[in-house]
Amino acid sequence: MNGSAHFRRGKHMNIKITGTGSFIPANRVTNDDLSKIVDTSDEWIKSRTGIEARHISTEDTTTGMSVQAAKRAMEQAGVEPEDLDILIAATISTDKVVPGLACEVQSAIGAKNAFAFDINAACSGFLYGINIASMYLKSGEYKTALVIGTEMLSKMVDWTDRSTCVLFGDGSGAAVIRAEECAENREGILSVIQRSDGAKGDVLRCDNRPVNNFLVKREAGFSYVSMNGQEVYKFAVKTVPEAVKEAAGKAGFALDEVDYFILHQANYRIIEAVAKRLGQPMEKFPTNLQECGNISAASVPILLDEVNRKGLLKPGNKLILAGFGAGLTWGAAAIIW
Ligand code: ACO
Repeated sequence: MNGSAHFRRGKHMNIKITGTGSFIPANRVTNDDLSKIVDTSDEWIKSRTGIEARHISTEDTTTGMSVQAAKRAMEQAGVEPEDLDILIAATISTDKVVPGLACEVQSAIGAKNAFAFDINAACSGFLYGINIASMYLKSGEYKTALVIGTEMLSKMVDWTDRSTCVLFGDGSGAAVIRAEECAENREGILSVIQRSDGAKGDVLRCDNRPVNNFLVKREAGFSYVSMNGQEVYKFAVKTVPEAVKEAAGKAGFALDEVDYFILHQANYRIIEAVAKRLGQPMEKFPTNLQECGNISAASVPILLDEVNRKGLLKPGNKLILAGFGAGLTWGAAAIIW
């Protein structure tokens, strides 16, 4: 519905997640499997990160995984592709430079009334995506958005570098977000925090193409993900609790009232440290990194979908979503389900 959504007097506009979906490639790779290709061990990976396995694509594409997750989210939300006004894809691992992932998905599902674009905010991408979608929806001009977070990091890591290749996996998660008129003004996405610090960007990087043209000839190199793990750890345990507190405060939640904290799944030790700094028990922090590894922009929507489909989310539950990653970028959202 592109153009004019008018909300009636006495009614409020809530921005709600009305459906979630996800897709993980079938091919499961354990830590023991990786110890056959690099000098590592299940014990090292598990004790440093909590990761036990990850799923690595052999046939699925970034677009294909996104389409599966999108269809599941739309089916749950009861919306048709033609209902979508906005289609946002958060990714750093598109199949093509152009067209971007969102346009590829638009074409594949037939979302012909949507406008579609990608955002590159790495592991914070889904949080940035729902924030951007919320702003459009709040304007009253649009009603329905689909936000996808998808990564195929297996094509971006150096499989001879044990310090990075053991950390990441592939997958996709999606959420339908709708503007709904409600009598009660305390539902849906209540606050969103978005931050970045480009000056610290070198801590986690993957270079693309260097200047290479008819004036400057360089070897066409291929660059992989590189990271200063300890700096990423320090960044995450400082910024995530701050963003979570800020999002909760803006929404009027006390942290003790929050039912679930759905955090980016980089590392179990980061999640434990955040929980400790927030004074909250680990039972409120669902995790799937044990099975999925770190799927960057996809990790928050995949985990949200898992928690949702397990039936753990009841109307009125309070959630905080938080992402953090390359850029550096970070963000959080406070939601009443
Ligand atoms: N298996 C065995 N040994 C390894 C492995 C491996 N997979 N990787 C590194 N090592 C070795 C190193 O070579 C080094 O050996 P050395 O002492 O002989 O030189 C030793 O382990 C320690 O290496 P560090 O890099 O110092 O390991 P650290 O204890 O910092 O753990 C880790 C690395 C897990 C990445 C940690 O820094 C961390 O938790 N960082 C948080 C960041 C993170 O999780 N990033 C994920 C992606 S970013 C994001 O999503 C935001």
